[in-house]
Amino acid sequence: KKVLVVNGPNLNMLGRREPAIYGSDSLATIEARLKALTGELDVKLEFFQSNHEGAIIDAIHATFSNHDGIVINPGAFTHYSYAIRDALAAVRVPFVEIHISNVHAREAFRHTSVLAALAVGQISGLGVYGYELALRGLLRSLES
Ligand code: DQA
Repeated sequence: KKVLVVNGPNLNMLGRREPAIYGSDSLATIEARLKALTGELDVKLEFFQSNHEGAIIDAIHATFSNHDGIVINPGAFTHYSYAIRDALAAVRVPFVEIHISNVHAREAFRHTSVLAALAVGQISGLGVYGYELALRGLLRSLES
């Protein structure tokens, strides 16, 4: 199985960005931790981060017929990007949506995800451990 791990805007700032909310791990650390699981989980991982909506859409398009699944933290695009939603609908690659923070415990604008209805599932509020949970859950759902 081949999975693309996508991180959206401002997630390149993890570790330095609002550490009380997002913790002190950098994105590189999170990606290295996922990479360490590839043997156990028998999966190939690719990583992509962008602050640009169109670049994320291009990366999603590139998964068509090429990846088995996507783990995505779309950042703030979660809440309003119909274009990213349409890209995920277009390629029909199964995905899990992950948020480090509990979006439902925060500002009202974070309570809506325009992507979640298309997702296999959504993880929110379990910190950066959520990435591992998202990957494991995605792979489990691909098996069944
Ligand atoms: C986030 C939550 C979003 O509301 C926010 O815009 C982010 C990060 C999270 O991982 O908790 O950039 O997706």
